[in-house]
Order: sequence, then structure tokens, then C-alpha cells
Amino acid sequence: MFDLQPSLRAVMSGDPDFRAVLWEVGGLEKSAVDPAQWLAPEEAIEMGTLRGEKRRREWLAARVALKGLLLADGVVSAPATAIVRKDVAGAPRLVVYEPDTGRYEVRGCSISHSGVYVLCAYAPGRRGRVGVDIERRTWRMLYLRRKYANRADKLIAPPDSIGAGTLVWSLKESLSKLIGTGMGCGFPKLVCSETGPGRCEMFDPDGVAHRGRYEWLDRYAITAVADPPEAAAAAPVPPRKRSLLERLARKRRLKRLRRERAAREDEPAGAPEGAPAGEWCNREESNLHASRH
Ligand SMILES: CC(C)(COP(=O)(O)OP(=O)(O)OC[C@H]1O[C@@H](n2cnc3c(N)ncnc32)[C@H](O)[C@@H]1OP(=O)(O)O)[C@@H](O)C(=O)NCCC(=O)NCCS
Repeated sequence: MFDLQPSLRAVMSGDPDFRAVLWEVGGLEKSAVDPAQWLAPEEAIEMGTLRGEKRRREWLAARVALKGLLLADGVVSAPATAIVRKDVAGAPRLVVYEPDTGRYEVRGCSISHSGVYVLCAYAPGRRGRVGVDIERRTWRMLYLRRKYANRADKLIAPPDSIGAGTLVWSLKESLSKLIGTGMGCGFPKLVCSETGPGRCEMFDPDGVAHRGRYEWLDRYAITAVADPPEAAAAAPVPPRKRSLLERLARKRRLKRLRRERAAREDEPAGAPEGAPAGEWCNREESNLHASRH
């Protein structure tokens, strides 16, 4: 597999609550990316449903960039063992699993595309959430003000009004992704208040504060919003207690999966080319695990 690291550009670095990278979609061709090496089977199926070459390229570039970051950070050792899975509203979550032990972890992640760039981030903490956005400066922000601005929005040294509008919009879009609603939450209900250069306090519709950051890359605003440290560090919610029937059914399913895995490991060949070890036998376990979160 090629070395992706040199072409990934770390952005808003040094933050304990999220890690973010920027990549150019053109990197796919330059690095001759083979989707089979980077995608888990369920992701390959999702990619097959996407319409249009441009959409497929930016979708794939985002996954490759995110997994490249996870590889560089040592979170996974093979890209297909990190799965970007969406909830019903379209919000992505990262499922990281260890094929050897069958253990899973779900982490917050976020994706954005604009022009030639893709921006991705994940939250290293178990309960952390993150939302990111990359937004090109556009004069349309002047005319859209009513659709996103709140009287309480404040920037310390606002650039020109197009730049200020682009920043505020982008920070609110990042927050809406962290919440998981997207624009449906109503941007005017969100408040953005800059507390130091490039650092903001972001309030969601319930008035809960989150931490926002931004940077400029030429004409692009790059923003991220993460949970405040105390929320991310909060004690994990104990798993829901399963009924006896659920426990029995689960035990049976896991027993069957283990039997199948053992049988497959005895087979000398037959795994699909490029698939990481244990990937196929763990899909159902993956679904089981994710349904607990
Ligand atoms: C989420 C949303 C703000 C993204 O805005 P955008 O400018 O189109 O696109 P971006 O490139 O910045 O972000 C796209 C990424 O957002 C993520 N996303 C989609 N829905 C999301 C949600 N509800 N919460 C968090 N993230 C979401 C996806 O990962 C997507 O990338 P992918 O398709 O490669 O997986 C917007 O699509 C939205 O509000 N969607 C939900 C409601 C909706 O569909 N409304 C229709 C218009 S009102």
C-alpha cells in the first residue's frame, strides 16, 4: 500500500479532542488508490449506490484521508478495519474493530468536501464527538444572512463581511454535524462567539456550549467543533440490560460466528482478494456491536 502520510495535511492540530486532516481529491489518482484495499465490504456497497463520478471520488477521497490519519495515529493497522457507518440522519460514526479479538469501539468522526478538498476528523476519546466543515468564500453569504445569523454571533476581528459570513456559516455547519442533525437544526438557533483568535464557544439549540476552531486556507474557511472536555470525559453510559431471550439469541449467534470463523481459518484459500483477515466473519458481529451504541 502506498504511503499516504506525506500528502495529508494536518489542520487545526494540537487539539486534544479531535484530529483533522485535509487532502486533495486528486490524490486518489496520484496515489493510485485501490478502493478494495481501503474499504470494508459495507462501505464498498455504499459507494456502489452513489451517483456520479465526482461524488464517488470525493466520497472515496474522504474515507482514504480519514483512514490514512487513523493509520498514521496507530488507531488501526489496516484501513478496512475502520468503517465509516452512517446513522439514519446521515451522520457518520467510526467503527474501529480488531479482527483478532473481535473487539469494537465506536468513535465520533466527521467529513466535509468542497472544491478540490476533503476535510475529515475523528475524536480520539471514546465518547467525544466532532463536526467539521470546509467552506469556500462566497458572496452568497451576504444574501443568506437571515438563514444562519444570530444577533449574539461575535467574531473578535471580523474579516470583510463575506469572510465573516463564510466563517460563521461554516462553524454552525460543523456544530450541526456534531449534533447529527445537519442544517435541520436551524442555523439561526446556534450561536458562535469567538473567545480568542481562531477559538470560539459554540452554543447548540439547547444552549449547551461546545468548542469551535477555525483556520483559513486561501479562500477556504476550515472549521471544527468538538465536545467540551468534561462532556467527552463523562463516565460511559452503562449498556442497556438485555432480556433473557435477547441474551440467549446473542449467545447462539456469537457461537455460530465463532464456529464459522474457526472453519474459515482452517481453509487454506477462499477469502476475497484484498480483504483483511477476519473481516468477513466479523460483519455480523460488527452489526451486533453497533446496535448496542
Ligand atoms: C450535513 C449537511 C450540513 C452537509 O452539508 P454539505 O455542504 O452538503 O456537505 P459537506 O461536504 O460539508 O458534508 C458532507 C458530509 O456530511 C456528513 N453528513 C451528512 N448528514 C449528516 C448529519 N445529519 N450529521 C452529521 N454529518 C452529516 C456526511 O458524512 C457527508 O459526507 P459523505 O457523504 O462523504 O459521507 C447537509 O447535507 C444537511 O444538512 N443534511 C441533512 C438534512 C438535509 O439533507 N437537508 C437537505 C437540505 S435542507
